[in-house]
Amino acid sequence: MKPLLFTLFSDGSLLENISKKLDTNITPITLHQFPDEETYIKIDADLKNQDCVIFDSLDRPNNKLLPLIFLAETLRDLGARQVGLVAPYLSYMRQDKRFHPGEGITSKYFSNLLSNYFNWLITVDPHLHRVKSLTEIYSIPTTVVHAIDNISNWIKRHVDKPLLIGPDIESKQWVEQIANNIQVPCLILEKIRYSDHEVEISAPEIERYKTYTPILVDDIISTAKTMIETVKQLKKLNTQPPICIGIHAIFAANAYDELFKAGVSDIVTCNTIFHPSNKIDLADVILNELKHYLKWKEIP
Ligand code: R5P
Repeated sequence: MKPLLFTLFSDGSLLENISKKLDTNITPITLHQFPDEETYIKIDADLKNQDCVIFDSLDRPNNKLLPLIFLAETLRDLGARQVGLVAPYLSYMRQDKRFHPGEGITSKYFSNLLSNYFNWLITVDPHLHRVKSLTEIYSIPTTVVHAIDNISNWIKRHVDKPLLIGPDIESKQWVEQIANNIQVPCLILEKIRYSDHEVEISAPEIERYKTYTPILVDDIISTAKTMIETVKQLKKLNTQPPICIGIHAIFAANAYDELFKAGVSDIVTCNTIFHPSNKIDLADVILNELKHYLKWKEIP
């Protein structure tokens, strides 16, 4: 039996490509918001013994969470055999410890919540730093899909003489692997974050790479301050205008325009969060993992 695919909030090329390759239409959901802002949900499909996949990126998560849980519960209530979550962007990964007395460790609370409602989870390059693996915080089977090969291929096809630059130590895991894949040099900088919007980036030692095209690579672009401060450092050194590559295109408020204004030649992201900068498709790598959970032999 073919799996059933659902979404509450998603649009864009990744969902479209996955549904095409699964040869499955997205099953419609009736959602209604009552005047008191409670949610009504109804699914007109036979769910008995069905494998159900909910596809929704969890950027801007707070308003998504309750409808998501209601959907998972409704599917299970109506007879679904399994309800899996494909969340190409997984939020609440950064507050993974108590940095100051009194703080909540929200990454743990969030993972406990999702673990209660889903049979399994697939995501793309979550922000793993102090937590080394999702298995440390999720009690359901989880699979992490990596964007590294797709990013490497994009760079190989589009850029001459790339110099990869990681703006902070956390980006090292992606930058070094991409550089190694395509055999190009890379530099990892140091970042101090003073507040949400205040970031300081160390100056890159770029002297021997003057003729290269700088490519900044990071997992998340949110306020874009990390990228913008790195671009400012490069400008002082008169490099070519850099290309910025992010896996997850959050772009809070005006971040996208501000990053362009900082003087970049292009902004490229993977399609984990629907955004005009999406140029790297991850449908194939996600489908590869989906196969294991669905055990459906006809997935190409
Ligand atoms: C954190 O270390 C992440 O890897 C990113 O560098 C960070 O989330 C980027 O945030 P922003 O765009 O707000 O500077």
